[in-house]
Parts: sequence; C-alpha cells; structure tokens
Amino acid sequence: NWTMEAFVDKEIARIRALVGEKGQVIGAVSGGVDSTVAAKLMKEAIGDRFHAVLVDNGVLRGGEAKQVHQTLTEGLGIQLHVVDASQRFLGLLDGVSDPEKKRKIIGNTFIDCFQEKANELTAAAHNTPQAGEIEWFLQGTLYPDVIESISFKGPSATIKTHHNVGGLPEKMHLKLIEPLRELFKDEVRAMGTNLGIPHDLVWRHPFPGPGLAIRIIGAVTPEKVRIVQEADAIFISEIRAAGLYGQIAQAFAAMMEGKAVGVVGDQRLHGYIIALRAVSTSDFMTADSFVFDGEWLKRVVNRIGNEVQGVARVVYEVSSKPPATIEFE
Ligand code: XMP
Repeated sequence: NWTMEAFVDKEIARIRALVGEKGQVIGAVSGGVDSTVAAKLMKEAIGDRFHAVLVDNGVLRGGEAKQVHQTLTEGLGIQLHVVDASQRFLGLLDGVSDPEKKRKIIGNTFIDCFQEKANELTAAAHNTPQAGEIEWFLQGTLYPDVIESISFKGPSATIKTHHNVGGLPEKMHLKLIEPLRELFKDEVRAMGTNLGIPHDLVWRHPFPGPGLAIRIIGAVTPEKVRIVQEADAIFISEIRAAGLYGQIAQAFAAMMEGKAVGVVGDQRLHGYIIALRAVSTSDFMTADSFVFDGEWLKRVVNRIGNEVQGVARVVYEVSSKPPATIEFE
C-alpha cells in the first residue's frame, strides 16, 4: 500500500543511513520545483548538515534571487548560500551571440562558482567538530532525466547540453546523491506538497538553466536583461491576475535581435522588440501556442510598451513546436 508519506519517510531514512551521523551534503538550488523538493527532503533528513547554494548568474528573472532566498530560508528553513556572480557571468557573456556558446559559458561558469563555494564550505567544515567533511553532492535528477541520458548517448547527446545526469564534473571529488531519481514530475509535485512547499512553487513553470541569456537573441547586455525582466514580470503578473497561469505550461517574454522604430510622445524611438510566448504542452517535446483573448492581449502588450523603457514594439508569437522550439534559442 504505497503512500507518498511512507515514501518520504523511507527516503529520509535512506538519506540518513547513507550520509551517516556527521556527513555533510551540498546541492545547487534554482528556485524550481525539483531542486527545492530535493533540498527540503535533505533539510528534513539532516538539518543544517545540508547546504543549498544558489548561484545568481545575472540572467535570472527580476528579483528572483531574493525571492528564492526568502522562500527557502524563511519559508522552508533551508540553509541557503547565495553566490552573487552576476557581474562575472555578464562579463563572460559580453559580445557572445551564439546560443550554444552562451549555454557552455553559463554551464561552465556555474560549475566554477559552485565548486568555489563548495571548497569554501569544506574549509569551514574543518572548523566544526560536530560535523564531518562535505562528501556528498545533491542532484534533483528525475526519472525522465535518467532515461533521457541513457537514450541520448552518442552524437545526439549534444541536443541537450543542459543535463549533466550520471556524473559530476570530474574535479569535484564528491559522491552523488539523487533522492528523486525514481520519480516522475507529478510525483515530485506530490512530494513537494507533502513536504509543505507552497502551491505556487510546486506548480511553477519551468525556467531554463541558461535563463534570460537564451531569451535574448544575440548578444546579452545588462540593459536588455533589465528590459526582458520588466516585460516578463508584467506578462506573468497579468497571466496570474487573469487566473490563467495554471492552464499554461510555460509563458515568458523574450527579446528579438535588432531594433525597430516606435513613437513616444512626439518623438521617434529606436527601441527593442519584445516577443511574448505562452504554450500548452504535456511533455515539452511538442507544444501549441496558447490563445489569449484579443482585448486582454492588446492591453498587456500596451502596458509593456508604455511601462518598460526602451521598448518600441511588442509582438505575440504563435508558432507551434515543431517547427519552432519553446525557447527562442
Ligand atoms: P525547447 O526550447 O527545446 O525547450 O522547446 C523545451 C524545454 O526545455 C527548456 N530548455 C532548457 N532548459 N537548459 C535548461 O535547463 C537549456 O539550455 C534549455 N533549453 C530549453 C525550455 O525552457 C522548455 O521548458
């Protein structure tokens, strides 16, 4: 007679046995459901011997690092270390417009930042006699990720450069712990609810690891990031206000390459082009664009054009996947 409660208890017992009385665990969190559920499970199992790390890569959504900090620390009691590396990431991304290069820079720099923090915490652990060394690395891998990494061996592995299932960067001498590797997404959500994680977080739309960098076509600049953050915040808050968030699988603002002419007051403005996208999908392999009420959409588009400085035009994108992907890059 399988219940989520019994499964959670069993996992907690398994983690305790694995890690031992003094062992310490480190794990990255993003604010998404998988890493938050994994982190909360760790917190329940070993308390402050679990260290969550959030790397702010400068291409998160507006106010996101702060919001994740609040939810995890104040809301869930998880010990969280925020690494503000936004200048470092933005510096490395400067002038880079190839999407795969952006992904590589963000992935590699993330590993470097995470490793540096892990070294720092390991050094600190030497001075805390009640706890042992950091030996373990938590990863919120789900069952579909495990399957995908098995079936994508070979040249097609580069289709998705964002999964690093089945191994850590070699220079990290840590053992992998993956408490969610037998679960599907709906089971992770059920576990999250069982662990007291807020509804909004459990049902949050996915957000890609390379963040807004792959939602800005072409080179990333701090100004473009600011504009996409502001446009996205308006779009998402309007979707929530209309009660549509739960009907949409993923919605976001992106920025097209180049500029267009618009008009502000009696001035011509050479400004950026924002594209809004919202999709319905069950598996993210295929997707349909979401159909909003036309008047509602016009109002949201106008709000963004009027409120976000530097925007000349706002378009709504209606491509399906395939042939388009969900993200623009
Ligand atoms: P596409 O654009 O391939 O997206 O239709 C399918 C799903 O995957 C997400 N995605 C990514 N997630 N790193 C990630 O962590 C990435 O590089 C990446 N690219 C796409 C996308 O947000 C959507 O949910």
